[in-house]
Amino acid sequence: MTDIHKGLEDVHIDTSSISRVFGDEGKLNYAGYWISDLAAHSSYEEVTYLLIEGELPDEDQLARFEDTLTQHRALPEQTMTVIKQMKDHNPMDVLRTAVSSLSTAQPGQGFDSGWNKEQAHKIIAAIPTIVATLDRVRNGKTPIEPRDDLSHAANFYYMLHDEEPTETEAEAVDTALILYAEHGMNASTLAAITTASTQANIYSAITSGIGALQGPLHGGATETVVETLDTIGSADQVDAFVEHEVEHHELIPGFGHRVYNTTDPRCKEFERVFRDLAEDPEHNERLDLIEALRDEVVGELGDKGIYPNADLYSGTVYRSLGIEPDLYTCMFTMARVAGWTAHVFEQWDDNRILRPRVQYTGETGKAYVPPSER
Ligand SMILES: CC(C)(COP(=O)(O)OP(=O)(O)OC[C@H]1O[C@@H](n2cnc3c(N)ncnc32)[C@H](O)[C@@H]1OP(=O)(O)O)[C@@H](O)C(=O)NCCC(=O)NCCS
Repeated sequence: MTDIHKGLEDVHIDTSSISRVFGDEGKLNYAGYWISDLAAHSSYEEVTYLLIEGELPDEDQLARFEDTLTQHRALPEQTMTVIKQMKDHNPMDVLRTAVSSLSTAQPGQGFDSGWNKEQAHKIIAAIPTIVATLDRVRNGKTPIEPRDDLSHAANFYYMLHDEEPTETEAEAVDTALILYAEHGMNASTLAAITTASTQANIYSAITSGIGALQGPLHGGATETVVETLDTIGSADQVDAFVEHEVEHHELIPGFGHRVYNTTDPRCKEFERVFRDLAEDPEHNERLDLIEALRDEVVGELGDKGIYPNADLYSGTVYRSLGIEPDLYTCMFTMARVAGWTAHVFEQWDDNRILRPRVQYTGETGKAYVPPSER
């Protein structure tokens, strides 16, 4: 009897040196560095370099990399057209199509590692501009040109709000990007490397990743968490909510993970960022609600290995930054493009086409009958 690994649970498809999730201990490491250190001391640009190149950059390397990203922030005309024409669609549909449309501005195609690396930098640089432009256009506002004197995170905030962020706000966007930049093998990364394994180009690989991230079981969970928190309303409603969801076997967004059997280490970092952003009564009530939900769900479902994941907190941080809920998965994309790119190049370093099997359980040998006789 063939072993079936439903959901590919516990299947190792390759080796990787990009990141490691310590599921039992609740720790996360990017290329040897603890996520807590990177979140506290690094920048998204530096972490992106680390993930793609395997080492932290020295000062010159970092300056050159930052320059490369800065140069590619502006969008080609056809991508602006895509955004304007699709402005009322789901933002992830727009983002997926806009990223795909970036490829039409590039001379030359084919499977060339140098060309693909250059294009990867362009995609990483362009995503914040796509997201900010979409939000402005759909709200009847003029798109804001990117600036070259702001960091990746600060420039995104500036293009979104037409206002420079405070240091704390820029730090919050930057930390969120670092925390979501990479997470080992997962549905969207697998989608990206599956496409890359056919020697399709980086645009196709990243577009595949975006498609897989969209669903509420993966990147889409952040938006659903915020809706759930709004529905619950306040900490004193948590018991009744959880009791109802558990009784009806509903999935509670922001909880559960295939790899972690304990609290996702990114929760603590997001909580710190949220506390840094403000200390007003509304903030505190939100935190009380999240904490009450966390305690109740862990009390009810902890013995099944159900603990908070990063999405329980991240949407609340985005909300404090004035980002609309339907952009939360786009925020995730803006970060995770670094991890997808790193995995795609690691795949290409020692490529073999990904081609699993499925066990056929249907019938065989049926005689063909024309439609008129069925
Ligand atoms: C992340 C997720 C898709 C992982 O799925 P998975 O590894 O296939 O987990 P399983 O479906 O095997 O879950 C095991 C058990 O825990 C339960 N469970 C998992 N996540 C749960 C949740 N968020 N709320 C309540 N119960 C949950 C399942 O119903 C299942 O129960 P059963 O054994 O009685 O059938 C899943 O936990 C989930 O949908 N979470 C909510 C969405 C979310 O926050 N996604 C972001 C992930 S970073």
